[in-house]
Amino acid sequence: MRRAQQLGRYHLLDRIAFGGMAEIYRAKTFDATGQPHLVAVKRVLAHLAEDDDFIQMLVDEAKIASVLRHASIARVYEFARAHGEYFIAMEHVDGKDMRTVLERCRTKKKPIPPEHAAYVAAEVGSALHAAHSAVDSRNRPLRIIHRDVSPSNIICSYAGEVKLCDFGIAKATLSRVTTKTGVIKGKVKYMSPEQALGRKLDHRSDVFSLGSCLYEMLTRIPPFTATNEMDLLIKVRDAKYRPVAELTPGIPNELEQITDRCLTRSRANRYQTAAEAEGDLRAFLRKFMPNYSRSHLGRFIRKMFAQEIERELRMLEEFVMTDEPSDDVGESLMVRDEDFEPPEVPFQPKPTSVSIIAAQESARESRQMSRVGPLPGDDFSGDSNFTTMPKAPAHDEEDVHGANTRILETGRGRSAQRPVPPAPEPPPAPAPRRRGRTQPPPLPPARTTRGPGPGVRPIYDEDLHSAPTMIIDIGRMRNRRS
Ligand SMILES: Nc1ncnc2c1ncn2[C@@H]1O[C@H](COP(=O)(O)OP(=O)(O)OP(=O)(O)O)[C@@H](O)[C@H]1O
Ligand SMILES: [Mg+2]
Repeated sequence: MRRAQQLGRYHLLDRIAFGGMAEIYRAKTFDATGQPHLVAVKRVLAHLAEDDDFIQMLVDEAKIASVLRHASIARVYEFARAHGEYFIAMEHVDGKDMRTVLERCRTKKKPIPPEHAAYVAAEVGSALHAAHSAVDSRNRPLRIIHRDVSPSNIICSYAGEVKLCDFGIAKATLSRVTTKTGVIKGKVKYMSPEQALGRKLDHRSDVFSLGSCLYEMLTRIPPFTATNEMDLLIKVRDAKYRPVAELTPGIPNELEQITDRCLTRSRANRYQTAAEAEGDLRAFLRKFMPNYSRSHLGRFIRKMFAQEIERELRMLEEFVMTDEPSDDVGESLMVRDEDFEPPEVPFQPKPTSVSIIAAQESARESRQMSRVGPLPGDDFSGDSNFTTMPKAPAHDEEDVHGANTRILETGRGRSAQRPVPPAPEPPPAPAPRRRGRTQPPPLPPARTTRGPGPGVRPIYDEDLHSAPTMIIDIGRMRNRRS
């Protein structure tokens, strides 16, 4: 038996990951009806918690991430402080990140089948486009750029959903690391050439990084590798890589062409929007495997990690809540200001006596519910962590992570979360050309993102987002080449 540690509204269970900036926990919390939910809690490490600038950057970026609503973007609920600790609570994606999937593929010497690679990349493309074209309530672009599209930030759920994580947070991390220490950190391997050169970025940088992820899914190796960081930066800058078909013979030509178009050095010749890349990937998938659905991906991931899934479920059952959960939810740092209306956090630290009764009633109904689909207007209806803590595994493989969650039973949860697509807008007037500069193309409206809500002013900070990621000593790089 293990006792969960309470942090604000959340009861920390097992630690999923540990890094230089934060540790990530699976955590349990309750909604107003007493239903338990799994969330992921990213707890900032103590030495960074003392740095006000760093915390402020995380606050700013969490604000941006929290306004994004898309089925393929892991939702950010809050950035808060409790018991002197800072943490971000976000949607828990019950699955494995693509870095782990790729590691397993490398160990087993088995490729990711092209249909799964195309599907995952298409979903990430859709998430990216939604973020790139997100607008505030007055239709002003938020100009969000992820900047850290990489396999570890792409999580495939056991139900076959694909979720892009760490929106915006990466920017805070990178700028912090580079400005304070002068050391380049972050995932250089998946950077765009313009990012590696410290240039001003636009959304097409993420399109390049998406290409790097797709390339690695198809070949099992990243497009750019080197034994030291400076050589790696040069390779990324030059955008020269071995052809996909040379590493994985038999990859359909169309898929290789899509990868190449994402990985084009010149921004002007790259896909101009993530939506264009997504469109081509979906067209490829329709031709290559017309009956493909996300359940295929779910089955692939569940099969690959069957033993881990069993272990995780057993381990989660060992946890008990603290005897007397406190009502102290901590202090939300995403406070309302003239530019930002914080989203309501739908959780509380413990089930109330009223909600326990409600939970018991809803438990009685849950089997029927799982067949008819989510409630209209239910805010969690598209989340894979909707129902409860995972229960004991069933014997049927399909049921391991599905029988107890609405999303898998209905297969339609995600569409319930997607807002109605906005009406098409008239084409924008062509932007005036500036000498020697490629203008980023205008983005068509996102199909699945909504702005922060009525009356909300923009939270986009031009300086923050246009600041170069890093400065590289170009002279030194040139010398090394000659
Ligand atoms: N919302 C989430 N749900 C489930 N697992 C998560 C979630 N967020 C992160 N993880 C897991 O934790 C791992 C580490 O995440 P973390 O963001 O701390 O580091 P990273 O992704 O390796 O680096 P980066 O700082 O670039 O994001 C992820 O690769 C993933 O396996
Ligand atoms: Mg991450």
